[in-house]
Amino acid sequence: MHDRRRTSAGRALSGPSEDTRDCPSGAVADTTKTCEQMFAATTRRLQRIYRGQVGREPWPEFESFRRGDYPLELRREAARHWARRAVAEYGSIHQFSGVTHALCEANVGLELLGPLTRLMTDEVRHAEVCGQMALACDPEGPAVSPRAFAWERPRAPWPRAPYAGDRQQLLRWAAEAILVACCLGETISRPMYDALIVVCTDDVANQVLRQIQRDEHLHAAFGWDALATIWPALTRESRADVQERLRVAFGGFEATTACGYTIADVAGREITITRTDGPNLGVLSPEQYAMIFFATVEQELFPGLQKIGLDPAEAWAKRPQTDVNHRP
Ligand SMILES: [Fe+2]
Ligand SMILES: [Fe+2]
Repeated sequence: MHDRRRTSAGRALSGPSEDTRDCPSGAVADTTKTCEQMFAATTRRLQRIYRGQVGREPWPEFESFRRGDYPLELRREAARHWARRAVAEYGSIHQFSGVTHALCEANVGLELLGPLTRLMTDEVRHAEVCGQMALACDPEGPAVSPRAFAWERPRAPWPRAPYAGDRQQLLRWAAEAILVACCLGETISRPMYDALIVVCTDDVANQVLRQIQRDEHLHAAFGWDALATIWPALTRESRADVQERLRVAFGGFEATTACGYTIADVAGREITITRTDGPNLGVLSPEQYAMIFFATVEQELFPGLQKIGLDPAEAWAKRPQTDVNHRP
């Protein structure tokens, strides 16, 4: 009798694949995870779907990374940076999926929703290539220093989305999330990747950096246009809330990105990002991070935010400031 569950090519049409397991795979097991477990195997079929969605040519040639060319300490330090990036990229998936859901609840058009699905695919790819680069640099890293490779559950730097209901509330929440994640986050990360490409001396690490850099341009562009599109639909009260979110976010980004440097430390100094003599596997110095951050705030964020209708100068002047004496 004809088996209706199979195509002529032998593929199951319905029901789970034959290689599903009785016990949870590493992809869902509830253990203390390190970030390489983002690549835990599921089934061959899911893997095919995943590869088809996330794989993009040219995929970085991780297998050609020449570990022996670099001292262990240098590789280990770079691996920690790449592992943190993998976790941050995973956090972006979390953020963009929340924004997608809120906007869908608010019944917005497809031209706003569609780009978010592209953003999520990109962030999944970024999480993988960063994690793979961390492992290429230091395959023993997760075992040797699990804390440096820890994969914590993501938490967005803003309140939880209203699950459903009041449309103005949903739009205001989405506007705040897009402001922080895209207009600020993606716009700041773009010149960081430009600089990393300059300082990085390794071919494989550079392939990874370029993959990410290309996408971050688009992510920032999405954010600016999406916020400008939502802005006219916001009430005065909602706009005031977005302005308040900007004030808090400026302080948050300064605390995490300026590495303890203040504007006074870098004022009047030109940023020159150049390759140094020694090898570099994709790491910037804290001072370089700080200089790029302050320059981007002034040259890109302020004008962009003003065009939307926000008051960046006021938000910056009143931003929460942390103790800056923790500079390395
Ligand atoms: Fe990303
Ligand atoms: Fe991004």
